Parts: sequence; structure tokens; C-alpha cells
Amino acid sequence: MYYTLGLDVSTTATKAVLVSATGEIAAVATHPHDLLSPRPLWSEQDPSEWWTATQLSIRSILAKSGCQADEIAGISMAGQMHGLVLLGGDGQVLRPAILWNDQRASSECDEIRDLVGKRRLVELTGNDAFAGFSAPKLLWVRRHEPEVYEKIGCILLAKDYVRYRLTGGYATDRAGAGGTLFLDLATRDWSSEILAALDVPSDWLPRTHEGTQKTGEISAEAAEATGLHRGTPVFGGGGDQAAQATGVGVVEPGTMAVTIGTSGVVFAPCDRPVTDPEGRVHAFPHAVPDMWHVMGVMLSAAGSMQWYRDALAPDVGFDDLFAEASEVDSGSEGLIFLPYLSGERTPHADANARGAFVGITLSHGRGHMTRAVMEGVAFGLKDNLDLLESSGILPPDHIRISGGGAKSLLWRQILADILQVELVTTDVVEAAAVGAALLAGVGSGLWGNIQEACEATCFVGQTTSPDPVIGRRYEEIHGRFKELYPALKG
Ligand code: XUL
Repeated sequence: MYYTLGLDVSTTATKAVLVSATGEIAAVATHPHDLLSPRPLWSEQDPSEWWTATQLSIRSILAKSGCQADEIAGISMAGQMHGLVLLGGDGQVLRPAILWNDQRASSECDEIRDLVGKRRLVELTGNDAFAGFSAPKLLWVRRHEPEVYEKIGCILLAKDYVRYRLTGGYATDRAGAGGTLFLDLATRDWSSEILAALDVPSDWLPRTHEGTQKTGEISAEAAEATGLHRGTPVFGGGGDQAAQATGVGVVEPGTMAVTIGTSGVVFAPCDRPVTDPEGRVHAFPHAVPDMWHVMGVMLSAAGSMQWYRDALAPDVGFDDLFAEASEVDSGSEGLIFLPYLSGERTPHADANARGAFVGITLSHGRGHMTRAVMEGVAFGLKDNLDLLESSGILPPDHIRISGGGAKSLLWRQILADILQVELVTTDVVEAAAVGAALLAGVGSGLWGNIQEACEATCFVGQTTSPDPVIGRRYEEIHGRFKELYPALKG
């Protein structure tokens, strides 16, 4: 037994990585999914696409690495959080899955606050109700699709649907379960009080497990479909953010991670549940057993850049756009971008928040607009960091940074200047899938604990230091940025 396999069932693709016991990445494979948006602000996916992409990516890493299936000690999965996969009593999918970035259920959030009481909701789950979370979306289905609701036998998250196809059993991990709004944060298990208040049957929910706990084994059918060895153990894993933090070695209190992916995240582990009484930041179990974390999530970080490029400069590469932006001074000569293109979660829990370019003049060109997008996302991350600080989580000396946007030195420098914290990259690619692999590696005994697993696999790369002079200038512009959301809200 020499390898551990991690999957990441993300929004754009399913990714698989094979990690060796000595910490090398033996193979990586990715297969994309389609995103469905049948109405504005709706975001759905067909679960069968995840399963197809899982089979292809597992077959592809087995072929690329030359690894024998019986050399794999364990498997685990990370995945997009907060999803709503509905299965009937016969295990068949009842409707397309409703994803984390779907905003249809904002009035159901109010309903949940009324039924449970907002203060009690935050006390129990660590979170306020957000439209993308599973519970409000389930209530939306109850109201708008009663014919679907009455057939429900089981509710799963995206990666747990893949787990079901791999093992034949229903199970979930506690980090992911935290994002449903059905979990009791302190006990790390389903909250009977929330389920009773929302009138949701508890037997619809799968059993919860720590990230390193065994949840099942590869079934004969899945072995046939993927090339894996029948009986290989499948471990808990984690929601993508907790798994990603694990992959980049952010597994202890006092450390912090920032991600510039489709969404933007500031993530801090804690050794006890820490919550913001207003529920403005998320509090979930970590994928690391008996640890928790707080985090702020922006819905469109690198997603803002992707939109901007696709809409305004579809024929230009990101590197060329970033080169133009590097010619522009910090502050983009007064141009400010608000990154709320899909509504927002943190710091503005507002499904109806909208993006904006504010302050355009005749002297602004494309370089200014690109830089303003980078700065707007960085200001949003600063808002998140400030909120964590108000919950008592202080920024450490350095923050580990990952995600597609972190590949740009310019973006890292802008963020370091705005946060006034040193940013450090790691050599880990596909960190969420790697994090899942490490959790399975610990579960199957390749490493003694998660710290040991991280030491074997994760090495720091480049450091970006903040410039205090530019930082003061950004502080002033951040003040103006913060005035814009309330000013434009109406
Ligand atoms: C976390 C979150 C996103 C999704 C998509 O709260 O909503 O990170 O998990 O990847």
C-alpha cells in the first residue's frame, strides 16, 4: 500500500490526484462539468456528470501513473459545498442538483430565521442562513416543487453523491455537513432542534464522519466502472475549503489561508467553535478531526476576472491583461470595481448585491479596468479579514495563498499591499484534492496524523511582502470602496 487518492468534485470539473506515501504527486487528472443556469441567479448541475468525470479522471490517473489499483491504501473526496442533491427512496436523482452559488432561496432564508430565530440559528449552527446553503434550498423545493419534495429519500452534497456511487452507501463528512445549515457546530452532528423547527425528517440525512474516518469501501460495481480495487476504503474527506486548507498545510490555530479561486476565501482554523454573533462569517468543523474553522467567502473573486475577460476582452490572454494592469498605478486612478457579480455572502449577506465599475473617466483604459478588478477583489478579501479580526481571529505574520488568481504576482502584490500581510505560496497544485488525499492517507495509516501528512507533501514557495507606503494609500481607497455598497444598495 503506497498511494492515497483524492478527488475534488468542484464546480467546473472533477479532479483526481494520486499522492505517494513519500509525498510526491504521482498523477493529476481533470474532467470538466457543464453548469446549467435555467433562470437568472439559478445554478444547477446534473449529478451524473460528476460520476462520469470521476470515472474518467480515476482511470486517467491510474493509466498515467502506472500505479496498480491494489497499491492504493485509501480514497477520499473534497467537493463544492452547500449543494442540494435529492435522491428518491430508490437512490435515483430526482432533479438537477442546486449549487452553492444559486441565489433563488433568499426568502426561504427569512423563513428559517423566523422558524428558528436568528440568534439561536447562529448559536446552534455557527451560521446565518445564506441562499446558497442546502437548508433554504430544500425549503424552496418544498414550496415550489412539492411533487419532487414528496419523493425525497435522501439529501446529499455533491461529493457525497460521488461517494454513494463509489461505495453504494450514504455518508458525509462533518466539514461539508456544516455548510448545509442542519449541523450542530459544537457536537459536529445533525441538529435535532433545527430539523424539528424546519420540519425536515432526520432520516433523509446521511451519517456524519470525521475527515479521516472510514465511510465505506469501493463496491464491485464501482471497481468495474473506475478500475479501482474492490474493498479499497473510502474516508470522510471534507468540504472543498477545509480540504484546500488541509492541502496547503493550514491545519492549526494561528495559521490562515486565502484563496483567489472562482470564490474568494479567508480561512482560519480554531481549536474550538468560534462564531460571530451576527453570523457574518461562516463557522464550520474543519476536515481535521476535532478542529473547527471560521471563514469569509466572496462569491466572485477570480470569477470576477473571468467574467471581465470573457465580456470585455475575450481574445486577450490573462497574462497580457495583467501586463497592462501592471503599468497602472495603485488605485487605478480613481476607478473602483465592486466584485458582487453573483450577489455576495461575506461581508454583505445579500443575494441582490450587484457588481459595478465606479468613477470611470475618459482617461481610463483597459489596464485601469483590469487593475480595478484585481483591487476590488482584494478589497473584498480585506473586508473578510477585518470581519475575522472582529471575531477575535488576528491575522498571523504570513498567510498561505492559493487558487488560480494567486498565480499572478501582480495580484498577490496588490493583495499583500491591501491586507498588509506577507503572502506565501505553496508548491501544492489542486490543493483541495490533495487535502482529501492526505485525509485518506491518515485514515489508512500512511501517515500518523495530518501534520505529518502536510510536512511530507506541502512546501512553501514564493513570498510576497507588503509595501507600507502603498498600504497607506490603499487604506484610504478601501474607505471609499466600503462606502459604495451601502450607497448603491437601494
Ligand atoms: C464555500 C463555498 C465555495 C464552494 C465552491 O462556503 O461556497 O467554496 O464550496 O467551491
